[in-house]
Amino acid sequence: MNIIISRELSIPIYMQITQQIREAIFNGELPAGYRLPPERKLAEQLGVNRSTVLNAYVELKSEGLIESFVGKGTVVLPLNPADTTAASTQLPGYSTPPWRQLFSERSFSAGDPLIRDLLSLSKRNDSISFSVALPDPGPKLTVKLREQLQLLMQEKSDSLWKHTATEGIHSLREAICMWMEKRGIHAAAEEVLILSGSQQGIDLLTRVFIDPGDIIFVEEPSYFSAMQSFRSAGARLMGIPADTDGQMRLDILESMLAKYHPKLIYVLPTFQNPSGLVMNQDVRERLLELAYRYKTIIVEDDPYCDLRYSGHHVPPIHAMDRHDHVIYLSTFSKLIGSGLRMGWLSAPKSVIRQLAIAKQMADLHTSTLSQFLMERMIRSGLLEEHLNDMRNRYHRRKQLMVAALHKYEVPGMTWQEPEGGVFIWCRMPAGLNANELMLRAADRGVDYLPGNPFFAQVPQTAYVRLNFSCAEEDSIDEGIRRFVLAVHDTMDARRYHQTGNRTEGLDPII
Ligand SMILES: Cc1ncc(COP(=O)(O)O)c(C=O)c1O
Repeated sequence: MNIIISRELSIPIYMQITQQIREAIFNGELPAGYRLPPERKLAEQLGVNRSTVLNAYVELKSEGLIESFVGKGTVVLPLNPADTTAASTQLPGYSTPPWRQLFSERSFSAGDPLIRDLLSLSKRNDSISFSVALPDPGPKLTVKLREQLQLLMQEKSDSLWKHTATEGIHSLREAICMWMEKRGIHAAAEEVLILSGSQQGIDLLTRVFIDPGDIIFVEEPSYFSAMQSFRSAGARLMGIPADTDGQMRLDILESMLAKYHPKLIYVLPTFQNPSGLVMNQDVRERLLELAYRYKTIIVEDDPYCDLRYSGHHVPPIHAMDRHDHVIYLSTFSKLIGSGLRMGWLSAPKSVIRQLAIAKQMADLHTSTLSQFLMERMIRSGLLEEHLNDMRNRYHRRKQLMVAALHKYEVPGMTWQEPEGGVFIWCRMPAGLNANELMLRAADRGVDYLPGNPFFAQVPQTAYVRLNFSCAEEDSIDEGIRRFVLAVHDTMDARRYHQTGNRTEGLDPII
């Protein structure tokens, strides 16, 4: 068994070992029954810690590729579960099912587990996180939620634990229509489907609309979990690029519409994930006209609409739609907390009906408790009150991050200040790989998301998504300082690698 590890690669060593053993098993180099070296021995051989090899073996075991047996050590399992030759007949007693071979083709088509793997890298307890887009609801909300929950328990104790219609509680659907009115959307309760988070909406749309081979247009970049969902259904994703202001290139879109006739165009026009930018009104109107002309459907994903800190509200595309060409998704995950699992979808009644059938198969209905709670929060005005408080806090955090990015400026790094949402999207200096930077950032005690998984077609390693909603106010400056130090570490290592010399003047005075 010949394993080569490289410390220059951005991939952690245990993953390099996992990948190479996995590959050797798949190409038959390591047949069923092959006994892998004991962890300690392989660690010595490779010059790594024993725990590194242990992690690799744990990963391979979870994939059903290897198993440890008392007296036999760690052996390769048969790839084909029906294979009764070699190891399978030699193994004593029962063995673990070969999980990997049992998983469906579809479960592998979602793509790259990069983010899951990378997020597990941060080992420092004092790490400052700019990676995940979770809300920080703040202490006042906790008090309000507790009060509302107590009232609910008194008023509706029985019905809180009963099932609801798959489409959701009617009075909540009405309350959500009131909430959407503030955004400029006029819809009837029957045109609203309550979701267990808007990610469920993406999944249901995939089930109801997508056959293998169907084409979906997405912005380039776009939200990676939606793209994973589309890919897992066998959709072909095509990315529509943006101009230098971040606006969708409608000329390219039009020529692609004429050529490919996509089933859906998935867009995030307001405080986009990951770019944080807003599609302007004119582009929205022209996009909608193109959807009418080419008879395609727009899926508008709008979780961040209410988080505007400056500038003017731009109505959602759904609000402009006169011919039922838009399916609208939104969520309370970014306003209250994703643990609520409460989102909604607004679309014509016939679409709601079909989606409700799919939802019934997925989870019957969304949590009754969460539905009643959200209805109270909206109708009592507490959600609006909370939102004002939240906007102020996020605005401050955004300003702190913007100030720190100016203070510790990296030559060649570019970014645009967003008017809302929770992200700042940075383009790194030429030649700097955001995946590689991630490991150095983890060492410095800060994390972020690399931009790569947000691209549908051509992977781009030059981008970084920084989230400013989660980190404590007093840690943002320090987090950006660490981030910039990691940028300089990476540039320094690159030059050292290229020239064999550490060059002068690279360390910023920070
Ligand atoms: C653009 C976008 N859509 C959907 C979701 C999923 O949200 P939910 O928690 O409501 O499923 C997210 C979460 O980050 C998101 O950013």
